[in-house]
Amino acid sequence: MTAQSDLHVVILAAGQGTRMKSSLPKVLHQAAGSSMIEHVLRASDSVTPATITVVIGHQADFVRLSLAGRADIQCVVQSPQLGTAHALQQAEPLLAGRPGTVVLLSGDVPLLTGATLRKLVQTHLDAGAAATVVTAVVERPYGYGRIIRSRGRIARIVEERDASPTQRLVREINSGIYAFDGALLFDALRGIAAGNAQGEYYLTDVVSVYRRRRLPVETLIVDDPGEVRGVNNRSELAEVGAIMRQKKNEELMAAGVTIVDPASTYIDSDVIVGPDTVIHPGVVIQGQSRIGSACEIQAYVRITDSELADKVTVLNFCVIVGARVAKGAAIGPFAHLRPATDVGEGARVGNFVELKKTSLGAGSKASHLSYLGDATIGTNVNVGAGTITCNYDGQNKHETVIEDNAFIGSDSQLIAPVRVGRGAYVGAGSSITRDVPPDALGIARGRQENVEGWVARKKKAPAKA
Ligand code: UD1
Ligand code: CA
Repeated sequence: MTAQSDLHVVILAAGQGTRMKSSLPKVLHQAAGSSMIEHVLRASDSVTPATITVVIGHQADFVRLSLAGRADIQCVVQSPQLGTAHALQQAEPLLAGRPGTVVLLSGDVPLLTGATLRKLVQTHLDAGAAATVVTAVVERPYGYGRIIRSRGRIARIVEERDASPTQRLVREINSGIYAFDGALLFDALRGIAAGNAQGEYYLTDVVSVYRRRRLPVETLIVDDPGEVRGVNNRSELAEVGAIMRQKKNEELMAAGVTIVDPASTYIDSDVIVGPDTVIHPGVVIQGQSRIGSACEIQAYVRITDSELADKVTVLNFCVIVGARVAKGAAIGPFAHLRPATDVGEGARVGNFVELKKTSLGAGSKASHLSYLGDATIGTNVNVGAGTITCNYDGQNKHETVIEDNAFIGSDSQLIAPVRVGRGAYVGAGSSITRDVPPDALGIARGRQENVEGWVARKKKAPAKA
């Protein structure tokens, strides 16, 4: 879809978020794996605006940095932060002379969907309104601005702190999301005063300004009030996160994924999971992870930014970060795959095995108690229990290469840099410091001696005082 040249999005994100009690700016707090502002941007992208302006202020540099990856976003600084109307005013220099519709979003309303935004723009344009306010009818309106109607039409918005007891009974609330006619907006903002309980310039007052000027103000009442939930404190952040997760789980289940216990399954919004994969309780799948089809992810596994092909089994209690696992491989229980790990087709990584920056070839096995770091391991290699690649000399990391069909006996140390040739064997208990040629046996351990009759002689000997 091409950008709509007359549509501009402004996102308010300058407030401190006092009620979060945090050193982190509110909009950078995460729900379901993305910051709130990322969620809001995702929704705004779906109306393909010509420009996106984010109003920053409190810890502006921090917020700006988090948006650095998006060249299409412009930031304006609001300092000091004198309220939501004052915040929007800061965007005027960037939007002046650009006619059209301004869609205003709040950085702390992260559940908003693209579909609602598209509906907002449509309703606003169809009505030819000066402003259209997204509202919702909720069970607990506490804390939100209330929509005061007169003869059915919106007359003004009253904030919780400024509301009378009767006004507080109103259950229709302001979502903080609006569409404005850009040609009228900034002039109207100048007509707003700060005569309220907080001494701030309230954007909500634009409604009464327009009504006084006899300009049409519309509302769009959302069907699902959950969608416009604002986050002002940590409890609300947790609630919003839970709603996002539930939505993600439902999408996946509808697409053929079995989630044994959705309530204890935490899957970030960008994660892809193929059909007939079974996900057991307590599983966390984060970031840009992709899971193939017909996989089994057993209980209490965390997978972050990793790719699992089809028919992969991950047994209980594994941590998989930045790794790739090919078709039919089996991982765990209690395995740790760290970044830049590549597990080949049908390979097996077993109990208490840690892999870092290591590729384990197809059909190879490291079944028990191993550390394999900075290693390139070929196909059909058997890595015995307790094998360790000694990759670090205190200063530098060194590589270990194990060629195809090699066999590493249990409890061996491979002191890198070192290479075990194709088809070679390493005797159990070896400390290998030199390369083992192909098809050779490398053995490096103390020789065993058996002393015949030693026990009987020891027992006969008189005990020393
Ligand atoms: C606001 C609305 C309220 C609505 C609610 C919905 C006003 C006056 N009130 O209240 O009617 O029901 O949202 O969630 O608009 N911000 C700035 N600069 C400022 C102040 C705020 O950028 O000077 C930003 C905040 O970072 C936040 C957003 O504006 O992203 C909303 O501010 P907040 O203080 O959370 O407003 P609410 O009290 O929730
Ligand atoms: Ca808020």
